[in-house]
Amino acid sequence: MAGTFIGVGVGPGDPELITLKAVKALKAAEVICVPKSHAKKPSMALGMVKHILAEREHPAEILELVFPMTKDELNNRKLWVENAAIVAAKAKKGNVAFITLGDPMLYSTFLYLYECVKETYPQLELEIIPGVTSVTAAAASAKLPLAEKEEVVTIMPSDLDPALIEDAAKHADNLVFMKCAHHIKEFIPILLKSGFNQDSTIALVKRCTLCEEKVLVGKISDVDGWDITEDYFSVAIVKKSQVPIHWKQNGKGCKNE
Ligand SMILES: C[S@@+](CC[C@H](N)C(=O)[O-])C[C@H]1O[C@@H](n2cnc3c(N)ncnc32)[C@H](O)[C@@H]1O
Repeated sequence: MAGTFIGVGVGPGDPELITLKAVKALKAAEVICVPKSHAKKPSMALGMVKHILAEREHPAEILELVFPMTKDELNNRKLWVENAAIVAAKAKKGNVAFITLGDPMLYSTFLYLYECVKETYPQLELEIIPGVTSVTAAAASAKLPLAEKEEVVTIMPSDLDPALIEDAAKHADNLVFMKCAHHIKEFIPILLKSGFNQDSTIALVKRCTLCEEKVLVGKISDVDGWDITEDYFSVAIVKKSQVPIHWKQNGKGCKNE
């Protein structure tokens, strides 16, 4: 019987932050698609669901799909078309679950493949299982509200054109920077031109909900003194207002470390 192509959000890292619906889908799917940026690099998403897959009675087929992080649109399109054909062929025999960090509908590799499958194989059933996104997980780790009352919150990638960051910052109360938010020091001059000030609250959360989690929270004026190391898995939250801070710096650690 033909199956469904399911985008499964597996949350930000903590295995307890995977939904019951995601667990059910991962235990039942014939094939688990694992996106990778490089064939030789381990998949963080797969690591996060290994304990669930280990509980299965019959092992699923693990299908690694490589999506290199390049801006070569032509080559990327070719890869999505190839991968869409593989997914469509596998889905003829049962459910194919594509695991994705956080939520599948937010800046995820799944979206490229999903659009391609939708367009090329309109007969294929599609389903999306939402996940806890790194945006809300980072806000929880930093203990900073993302938006209250009439506040406007804007989410953007860190490599956005500085003019667009400036424009967006003017119209928002709170900003969330994703994808390499460790570049936050570079954005401060832009933010100071857009209604933020030295007392505005800022948080940088790396590897949130994982053992290696690091949280820095303070005022914009503190950021210069922060020791920030490069990490793709970081989210920055900046608030125009100054809010009470619970702590300045911490590392999560894990019980079994
Ligand atoms: C391609 S986007 C995927 C976003 C994901 N779909 C989500 O809902 O969180 C990758 C970016 O998500 C953020 N991210 C994902 N997991 C994270 C984590 N555990 N800690 C911090 N940032 C994370 C980082 O900004 C990273 O550069």
